[in-house]
Amino acid sequence: MPRLHPAYSVGDREGSVHEEPYQGPGTLDLELVLPPQADEDGAWEMEIGYGKGRYLLEQAKAHPERRYLGIEVVSRYYKMLRRRFRHWGAHNLLNLRGEALYLLSSVLPLGFVDRLHVYFPDPWPKAKHHRRRLFDHETVDLVLGVLKPGSELCFATDFLDYGHLVLELLDAHPDLDVDVLDGEWPDGARTNYEAKYIEEGRPIVRCRARLAEDARSGALHPHGVSGVTSAWAVREERPRQPARRRRSQPGLELPDRFRVGSPREKMR
Ligand SMILES: C[S@@+](CC[C@H](N)C(=O)[O-])C[C@H]1O[C@@H](n2cnc3c(N)ncnc32)[C@H](O)[C@@H]1O
Repeated sequence: MPRLHPAYSVGDREGSVHEEPYQGPGTLDLELVLPPQADEDGAWEMEIGYGKGRYLLEQAKAHPERRYLGIEVVSRYYKMLRRRFRHWGAHNLLNLRGEALYLLSSVLPLGFVDRLHVYFPDPWPKAKHHRRRLFDHETVDLVLGVLKPGSELCFATDFLDYGHLVLELLDAHPDLDVDVLDGEWPDGARTNYEAKYIEEGRPIVRCRARLAEDARSGALHPHGVSGVTSAWAVREERPRQPARRRRSQPGLELPDRFRVGSPREKMR
């Protein structure tokens, strides 16, 4: 079962591919798994649920000085990306197969990512399946835990109710500055799902959330299940900026206010 047995693959400039099961327990040493050709000071970008890997590959090729990490739970997609390593010098891309929340909680280090990408995560629309979502108040601390101070999270979904919940959740974090995009990313459609939905004319929620440079390491989300008490104190210390919102994307109705009150009022 790939969910239970994570594996990773890396390539090099000569087109060789190397694959290892994750042996665990303990954190994967990211500095050691990429070939020495990768820039050891290169910024880390990570994409969770990369699907066919279009964005990850394009970015890794375009920015050889950066380091990329892709997480995907479906073996077929993981192998598809691994096959592509052979056709180019994939010295800066770590392809990691496994269940994202498990990898975030047990395999990856904290606070190493400069830019995190989450595009069109499965929305699990039925209420009984909401607990499988990547972002909610139970998992938010795991997802945000990989971010460095000053880093950025890019998120998009066509499932508007879910998008609004994610916006509220991100905006309620005292150290995140959330910017909702008016229309497409400056570089156009990033992933296959996005290209398809743009063609179909579906409204899409896209946002960037920047973590403050002086964000406290380990500060938990005030609405996170495990962090209600400890992070509430942090929230009190810093006056926060309201999210910047623009509303001109046709068909995209955003909630009136992203800012929410106490965890009990809004999230429970
Ligand atoms: C709807 S697709 C979007 C794919 C791609 N991001 C895009 O926009 O074209 C969601 C992707 O997330 C992956 N995924 C879903 N849940 C996951 C999890 N818990 N851990 C890792 N990957 C996951 C799925 O296998 C799938 O490839």
